[in-house]
Amino acid sequence: MTSLRARLFIGVTVFVAAFGVCAGILSFRSAFDEAIEFQDGTLLQVADFINEPPVRHVPSAPGQVDDEAQIIVEELGQGRFPLSLTDGLHTVTAGDTTWRVFVRSLPNGKRIAAAQPTAVRDELARDSAIQTLLPLAVLIPCLMILVAIVIRLSLQPVSLLTERLDAQDVDHLLRLPKDNIPKELQPFVDAINRLIDRLEAAFIHQQRFIADAAHELRSPVTALSLQVQTIDSSALPPAQKQRFDELRAGMSRVARLLDQLLSLSRYESVQSTPLDAIPFDAVLKEHVAALMPDAEARHIDLGFRQFHPVTVKGDAPALAIVVRNLLDNAVRHAPDHGQVDLSLTTSGPNAVLEIEDNGPGIPEGELPRVFEPFFRGTHPTGDGNGLGLSIVQRVLARFGGTIELTNVTGVSRSGLRVVVTWPAA
Ligand SMILES: Nc1ncnc2c1ncn2[C@@H]1O[C@H](COP(=O)(O)OP(=O)(O)OP(=O)(O)O)[C@@H](O)[C@H]1O
Ligand SMILES: [Mg+2]
Repeated sequence: MTSLRARLFIGVTVFVAAFGVCAGILSFRSAFDEAIEFQDGTLLQVADFINEPPVRHVPSAPGQVDDEAQIIVEELGQGRFPLSLTDGLHTVTAGDTTWRVFVRSLPNGKRIAAAQPTAVRDELARDSAIQTLLPLAVLIPCLMILVAIVIRLSLQPVSLLTERLDAQDVDHLLRLPKDNIPKELQPFVDAINRLIDRLEAAFIHQQRFIADAAHELRSPVTALSLQVQTIDSSALPPAQKQRFDELRAGMSRVARLLDQLLSLSRYESVQSTPLDAIPFDAVLKEHVAALMPDAEARHIDLGFRQFHPVTVKGDAPALAIVVRNLLDNAVRHAPDHGQVDLSLTTSGPNAVLEIEDNGPGIPEGELPRVFEPFFRGTHPTGDGNGLGLSIVQRVLARFGGTIELTNVTGVSRSGLRVVVTWPAA
């Protein structure tokens, strides 16, 4: 059994039930014995009350003894009880009935017996003994409900800790608070906090390693790339020229990957960045202009639906990364003769950039994964490292922005709509 709550509840229930059964048996027995003793006392009182031998089988002492008690008084030797019975209490079987009998000698020498069938006595005693079980029968279920409530309340800190752990953001791990935590849970919380510290240290180490490696590789790769770009390949024989062009393209891909890895590690760390006021509209126009030749070459209609100048809080390279990556994705996935519509507006305290292309969109099942580094979907289009959206997401998280991707659906329509918000200045 894995549930601590169930284990505690069942454990306590078993003990309380065992206690209840024992207490019930004991109280039933003692109440039963007391009732029997009381009935013996009643027989004595009835016999004391009689001074003359009564007519046989007369129910005795009306008003003192309940008819239900079926007490009879008769003279010894005249009815069912033999003369040989001595004075005092006896249990006697006469015919097929067993009797409890009290024998007494009267002053006139006659002897009388006050008697009651034992079956009746037992039934009366049982009835009154059962009454003593009623409080237990009510109290034990009440006790179990109270125990369940107390267990639930006692385990509430565990549920709270679970909720806090579940809500943790892997990018911003927070130590668990220790106030209002029961003493027994403190070592557990301490151990989790130590684990969080170790995880954070490992993250920082990993980020630093990637940043350092990208940084170290960047200078030689940039130098190689520059050298490769300056070589004139036009004079080479066709087969060699093709291989050389592949080498040149490969070099720029590696240089881009290193740039992306550096951006990723720069915006992954939690350090705060000083915020400047950046003209979003100017940055956007600049990147649209830079992409225009590519778009025109493929007859893509790249233009604005709405355009409101807006200034945002952030840093210029970060905003440029977001705009460049999203525009690049939209133009890359739009078909030839396709369309990419942009709109820059404000909504409340935010600038809102909307980019909508008429490409294939992203399969719904892949949407949650596109922000994972190196994820490029099941049908990757063109060159790319699958890092663009991861970098965009990290930048936005750093500057308090958000991003939402939705597929455009409709009759003979498809595409992806990306909505980015960024706090306005
Ligand atoms: N506008 C879009 N239309 C359709 N699919 C898209 C669009 N934008 C992104 N995707 C899908 O999301 C994946 C991840 O995009 P992301 O920008 O992170 O990487 P990439 O563009 O493949 O490479 P990189 O940006 O590193 O050059 C893409 O490979 C593509 O499958
Ligand atoms: Mg991309």
